Amino acid sequence: MTIKLDPWGYVDISDYDKLLEQFGIQSTSIILDKLPLKHYYFTRRIVFGHRDMDKWLEAYSRGDRVAVLTGFMPSGHTHLGHLMVIEELKFLQKMNVFIKIAIADAEAYIVRRLERTDTINYGLEYITHALAWGLDLDKTFFYFQTNNNTDYYRLIQLFSRKVTLSELEAIYGEISPGKIIAAFTQVSDILHLQLDCYGGYKYVLVPVGADQDPHIRLARDIADRFEQELGFKRPASMYHKFITGLDGNKMSSSRPDYAIFLLDDLDIVKKKIFNALTGGRATAEEQRRLGGEPSKCSIYQLYMYFIDNDSEIIEVYNDCINGKVLCGVCKKRIVDKIIDILKEHQKRYYEIRESDLLKKIVEIPNF
Ligand code: TRP
Ligand code: SF4
Repeated sequence: MTIKLDPWGYVDISDYDKLLEQFGIQSTSIILDKLPLKHYYFTRRIVFGHRDMDKWLEAYSRGDRVAVLTGFMPSGHTHLGHLMVIEELKFLQKMNVFIKIAIADAEAYIVRRLERTDTINYGLEYITHALAWGLDLDKTFFYFQTNNNTDYYRLIQLFSRKVTLSELEAIYGEISPGKIIAAFTQVSDILHLQLDCYGGYKYVLVPVGADQDPHIRLARDIADRFEQELGFKRPASMYHKFITGLDGNKMSSSRPDYAIFLLDDLDIVKKKIFNALTGGRATAEEQRRLGGEPSKCSIYQLYMYFIDNDSEIIEVYNDCINGKVLCGVCKKRIVDKIIDILKEHQKRYYEIRESDLLKKIVEIPNF
């Protein structure tokens, strides 16, 4: 079965190895020892694939100027799934690279049909979370897609000459005028840092969820076509697996009962986690006899994504498959940790929000 990657639709990826093979994405296992710093996302293969990240790392170690660009579509409140990119940025920022984040308010308006004010508010919420999670305020740059400079929009116009409708259909399936604009806007996000007026960064890495690969492929094709005219190079990318929602499907703000939002009341978080789907058996007796199935368990995912101590993960895994610990106890253990993390985070979030800082670091669109 072929995997369909629709960045605007529902993506169900059950087999990430297949994805690598089908789309020619490279596995991150081969770049592990080239990373100057380690993060458990890489060793646990949460970040599982990349395109040309090895070249980006080589440029970095040569001392070339490198940058990271990613984006967030502000179509709902920020949840644990979004935190992943922020955590990746925090890791990459330790390497002292230039970091820029696009708030894709144009995309949320066009494709998700949100009101402008909502897209802006969700965007500001996300920025606040990014800072509260620990991104360096002095070294992280944010912009709204509807509020950039002329040169950024000029790219969108130039790009449109060198792409055909059938190419877009081959990448995205059915496409509309709005989606075409959203796609070219995202390519401008990805490539604009290469222009001198935006810093002239020729090595740009884009960390994203795997559903964004179609945009990366388009950006790489367009970069090739503008190599002569604008001196563009292909951008690199790295892909993470999605954290699943508490019902085992993708975590999404459209199914709020199964997502953990960063501003959720902590009692609600507890309730959501206690109601979550696990890989446990029908009865306690059965579970003691057969053991649980961590690969099918949304609670186990929480451990994998949020606990950086490997020996703790191994213990949880073994206790589960050997039937030594039942799901109730296992849930209790992670609930306490997630609550601690969120409590601290929410405190910082509200401090930043009250400080009036946001107005200084990002230009807010005026309509
Ligand atoms: N389309 C992305 C999303 O849905 C957001 C985005 C916009 C983006 N521009 C980008 C991601 C540039 C990476 C790079 O989340
Ligand atoms: Fe999941 Fe823990 Fe239950 Fe195993 S014991 S199925 S990891 S909740």
